[in-house]
Amino acid sequence: MQLSLRNIGVLTAGGDSPGLNVAIRGVGKTAIQQFGMRVVGFRDGFRGLMENRFIELNNDNLSGILTLGGTMLGASRDKPHRMPVAGRKADMTDIMAENFEKHRLDALVCLGGGGTQASAYRLLRKGLRIVTLPKTIDNDVAGTDVSIGFNTALTIATEAIDRLHSTAHSHHRIIVVETMGHNTGWLALGAGLAAGADVVLIPEIPYDIETVAEAIRRRSMGGRGFSIVAISEGARPVEGASGNERGNAKAAGGRRNGHGDSLGAQSQQVARQLEELTGLESRLTILGHVQRGGTPSPFDRVLATHLGTACARYVADGVTGSMIGVLGGKVGPVDLGDVAGERKTVPLDHHWIAAARDTGVELGD
Ligand code: F6P
Repeated sequence: MQLSLRNIGVLTAGGDSPGLNVAIRGVGKTAIQQFGMRVVGFRDGFRGLMENRFIELNNDNLSGILTLGGTMLGASRDKPHRMPVAGRKADMTDIMAENFEKHRLDALVCLGGGGTQASAYRLLRKGLRIVTLPKTIDNDVAGTDVSIGFNTALTIATEAIDRLHSTAHSHHRIIVVETMGHNTGWLALGAGLAAGADVVLIPEIPYDIETVAEAIRRRSMGGRGFSIVAISEGARPVEGASGNERGNAKAAGGRRNGHGDSLGAQSQQVARQLEELTGLESRLTILGHVQRGGTPSPFDRVLATHLGTACARYVADGVTGSMIGVLGGKVGPVDLGDVAGERKTVPLDHHWIAAARDTGVELGD
């Protein structure tokens, strides 16, 4: 064991995802057992750092959490520079910097998705020593091939679509199944491929509803009177679709896609339009937060353990200002400045898109 008096902090911010506890465990156990560090876990993301709400992590509370979903530390979407305080949003980065110093932290490990990487980068520019890990079921963090939680969500969505097949088949229906994914189509495309969806609609490829309907009519004429349409919550119709075709995209509340439309607003509309255009009965299933819940898959457990333990080792070596990610199968640090503010969408020449087209999946373009 290398002797060290160093202190590190850990927090989990943004939406939770399966595998967070595994990553906390990997960071914590390595830091404590291999480097003799003191590890504090801040509660509820950046809010806990601001309010100095924390727990000491130790071998006892880091045990027995490998299979647990969610995060033992709690999470929130509160951002350091827009923290809701007394009914307004305030820049609380200075207070966070004070708490960082109060704990004499050598590094703060922030686990999160795209928003968290950007928030962490803000703190880095304030002078805090920051290292991050990528986690999101959306798989849209730049600078890494894969993020913690994506594989579990992909597995859950695939199982759900598998089950929808038999009921769609029995009732000769169209089933539109909406996945999460924010403004990217990794989850819908991956699960659509894995479960054999007939149509996959993703934000990266705006769809023409008539093209989709025609593909379903062709299936019916070929004797397949049911269809599964996997749609990402961020999917959108081609530019120029009429207000009617765009449905209540602007009217509904909630989080919005890059075009100002509410996430998920299109799915109901797609189900209704396809029923009208094909004459087949349609149903909509929204998978929602089921995709984020429960125990992480074996792949995510291995990934989160690998990233968490590597992170503690990099911190012990004095590496900060980086996200520890996976590129080309290799785990290593990526400059946080190259990650923050970027979004990894599905490239149009990605092999998953080519495989979908090759196997006759309709992508709506
Ligand atoms: O970013 C992860 C994610 O699950 C997205 O797929 C989804 O759009 C969003 O979070 C939902 O956020 P919330 O849990 O805050 O409703």
